[in-house]
Amino acid sequence: MCTSTFIALASVAAQAQPTVEVLHYWTSGGEAKAAAALKKDFEAHGGKWIDSPVAGGGGSAAMTVLRSRVLSGDAPTAVQLKSPAIMEWADQGALANLDDVAQKEKWDDILPKRLSTLMKYDGHYVAVPVNIHRTDMIWANPDVLAKAGTSEVPSNWDDFNKLAKTLQAQGVIPLALGGQPWQEAILFENVVLGIGGTEFYQKALIDLDEDALKSDTMKKVFDQMRVLRGFVDADFSGRDWNLATAMVMNGKAAMQVMGDWAKGEFMAAGKVPGKDFLCSASPSNHGYLFNTDSFAMFHVDGADKVEGQNLLASLILGQKFQETFNLLKGSIPARLGVPMDKFDTCALQSEKDMQASQESDGFLPSVGVDMALPGNLTGAIVDTVTAHFNSEMSSQQAIDMLIQSLDLAKE
Ligand code: GAL
Repeated sequence: MCTSTFIALASVAAQAQPTVEVLHYWTSGGEAKAAAALKKDFEAHGGKWIDSPVAGGGGSAAMTVLRSRVLSGDAPTAVQLKSPAIMEWADQGALANLDDVAQKEKWDDILPKRLSTLMKYDGHYVAVPVNIHRTDMIWANPDVLAKAGTSEVPSNWDDFNKLAKTLQAQGVIPLALGGQPWQEAILFENVVLGIGGTEFYQKALIDLDEDALKSDTMKKVFDQMRVLRGFVDADFSGRDWNLATAMVMNGKAAMQVMGDWAKGEFMAAGKVPGKDFLCSASPSNHGYLFNTDSFAMFHVDGADKVEGQNLLASLILGQKFQETFNLLKGSIPARLGVPMDKFDTCALQSEKDMQASQESDGFLPSVGVDMALPGNLTGAIVDTVTAHFNSEMSSQQAIDMLIQSLDLAKE
């Protein structure tokens, strides 16, 4: 190629409009607002954003779409992913290296080490984190609780059960739940943490230690799941998580155990924390079940797309953007040092609990939203939890199924 042609091509490339096609599953009220903030920031910086939302809380529908897109050689430029999935895709050589942006913008310095490690494959950045969510939260309607004679969200499962019975006697649905496997798994992990504590959670759900899985404590966990089954309404099957949040909002139900993306729903509906709704850590024994949303960039051709990936990666960790996005999403910033003065009491509590949990080894990844284990192992746990919750299976049968499913998944 002669020099002038090369220069001409290079300048076309340099002028290419940074373009991203973003595959994500942020389609509820609060989620969509947060996703729109990212789109707006990207467009304000000259980028072209092609939106590819796949409805379905928890993202399993989005992950199915992603697999078929990659298989057919049509990977999206940027994808909302969790760390274990990021590692699986990186292992297959599907992800682009983000080291250049990371070095330029000093990601090693602006990210807590616990997060940056989750974004690196083989020592190289392949994804960028946008937030820190937690799943060990109870969202409650204060007026409904007041009628049952309390202003406090229960701080252990026994008290939860007592309050739930009082509420039920008053004709209120104690627990708003969406009967989808990942939502039942969130309930389960909260019970594991509340009954077993942080060390047990680590042993049972992260190390998959057989003694812990077979223990009396695990039996008590499934017993409590059976009790909780009695506190949900008859129409819970298949319900979306945000519809369960709406039940708390409008006083049809008293409480929901859900990640703090639920706060995004309350905020999007103009509700005020502490007044219209209560947020409280679930009985969690000083643990903190974290969940970080990240974007991984897939290998794609074209200067416009590569520039788009770099621009998006850089914007996501911008200080101002981290504030704007997380205020809408219900999460707290992934980036260190973002001013917290605009954040509400739920977010401030989350930050405080996160710090405390890190000092006591209680900062643990959520299994229910795919942060803890490779997909096949998560699947084994989630399937068992759902099978137990939606049948008459005994706690012992659930434990047997759990061990068997995990063994099969490990093969
Ligand atoms: C999680 C995700 C959250 C939230 C939730 C419900 O997997 O990390 O950001 O969107 O699903 O869709």
